[in-house]
Amino acid sequence: MDIVVFGAGSIGSLFGALLARVPDHSVTLVGREPHVAAVRDAGLRVTGVDEFVVRPAVTTDGTDLSADLALVTVKAFDTEAAAEELATGAFRAVCSLQNGMGNEETLARHLECPVLAGTTSYGAVRDSPGTVAWNGRGDVVVGPWEPTDATGVAEEVGEAFAAADLSPAVEDAAGIRRRLWRKLAANAAINPTTALARVENGALGDPPGSDLVEPIAREVAATARASGVDLDADETATAVTEVVDATAANESSMYRDVARGRRTEIDVINGYVVEQAREHGIDVP
Ligand code: PAF
Repeated sequence: MDIVVFGAGSIGSLFGALLARVPDHSVTLVGREPHVAAVRDAGLRVTGVDEFVVRPAVTTDGTDLSADLALVTVKAFDTEAAAEELATGAFRAVCSLQNGMGNEETLARHLECPVLAGTTSYGAVRDSPGTVAWNGRGDVVVGPWEPTDATGVAEEVGEAFAAADLSPAVEDAAGIRRRLWRKLAANAAINPTTALARVENGALGDPPGSDLVEPIAREVAATARASGVDLDADETATAVTEVVDATAANESSMYRDVARGRRTEIDVINGYVVEQAREHGIDVP
């Protein structure tokens, strides 16, 4: 499959590298300097869970590209700009693999191809140009954003991921929305707490961090149910704890953003929960 990975941050670089390892896939990574120049010169190096170097095509210019799939991995506040660039190219499908809510609506507003939603709890950190640390396996789920005919495309994308040993689950539109809310619960519980306390995800496995994780997960599940998405509170709390364990060695994306003085995704994660909760009269302290 021809795949454009739009956004060469931590998850984009890891998924780009894992997909580029498959001889049948042709991967183009769209990123920023100096990462792009480093990958062009010496390849993309993965360390951690597995160690290898791949040589995907790489560019800073996301316009006029064409591929079977555009995998969008930019920060949520960059989705609009990414969608505008992608709209100048041609794709059979576009799939968001981002944190936070609202990304799929933005992509659907700009692109005519089917939009898929995806979630992952893989742990990765892109620290130095040309290198990404793979800190933990997690799960990968994809599905059509709208209950339309995109299920076939979602299955093809699932097969492309499976060839890269990513063991994806393919859901229908209702299933992927439930997964997005479950991922939102993990991000709402893990990201700001680790960012505020400046700790790795694994620190939330014990008190006092673990005392916060479960109530936050339950608040998000209650908000999801009020928004019409059937999310069980116990299952959500367990799923979030599993993400903490699977990514114990990872610094969350928000911790890294705060530590580097960068903009965070708080508005599309906890901000989104607060907005929805307010709308439905749910208490989310
Ligand atoms: O944003 C993140 O850091 C990741 O989504 C996750 C799964 C919480 C792992 O650190």
